[in-house]
Amino acid sequence: MKAISKPLLLVAAAAALTTGSFLSSYADEAKEVKDPAIERAKREVRMLDDIYKTSIVLITTHYVHDDDDLPAGAAFKALFSAVKEKGWHEVRLLDATGDPYEEANKPRAGFETKAIKQLLDGKSVYEEVVTEGGKRFLLAATAIPVVMDKCIMCHENYRNIPAGKAIGALGYKVPIQE
Ligand code: HEC
Repeated sequence: MKAISKPLLLVAAAAALTTGSFLSSYADEAKEVKDPAIERAKREVRMLDDIYKTSIVLITTHYVHDDDDLPAGAAFKALFSAVKEKGWHEVRLLDATGDPYEEANKPRAGFETKAIKQLLDGKSVYEEVVTEGGKRFLLAATAIPVVMDKCIMCHENYRNIPAGKAIGALGYKVPIQE
């Protein structure tokens, strides 16, 4: 300690002070951006998305052989309405091509249309936080590309779509647990 001169100590103290205040304001900012309740909801969506999409692919691989078999997408729409009825969260199977099998799968005006546009521009996920009746919800849409040739068996319009491009999405509405 003795070896350090007074002016040097002052400089060091000043540096520590400015760094300190810089760090604390940075931490405040980071806290604002990373609300833990929102982060947990985002993690929940990532987990649900992996489970739903992995199951859809497994079912299509092992159980869907002809174009008149029950498509995994239709089976999962039944699952989604059961999950919604039980009050867990909402999920919608959405079209991104403009030419869906079912009109009901067309993105609705507002979040869904905005999200599909972002996914078509190359994003893999688009998220927004909304408040309804004093409660916060995470809205999220995750891209569905043409993951296997079998999809084309029923969706002829996917044939010439570049690999990796979104043809649809899963649209989530998940309650944020405060
Ligand atoms: C056996 C035929 C069949 C196969 C195979 C199939 N689908 Fe579908 N798909 C359908 C039908 C029918 C619907 C409409 C379901 C509904 O709304 O009840 C649908 C709906 C969809 C939708 C919602 C938009 C729309 O067109 O209505 C997407 C996205 C989708 N399928 C993607 C895929 C993907 C990706 C695959 C490959 C993993 C796939 N499908 C395989 C028949 C099929």
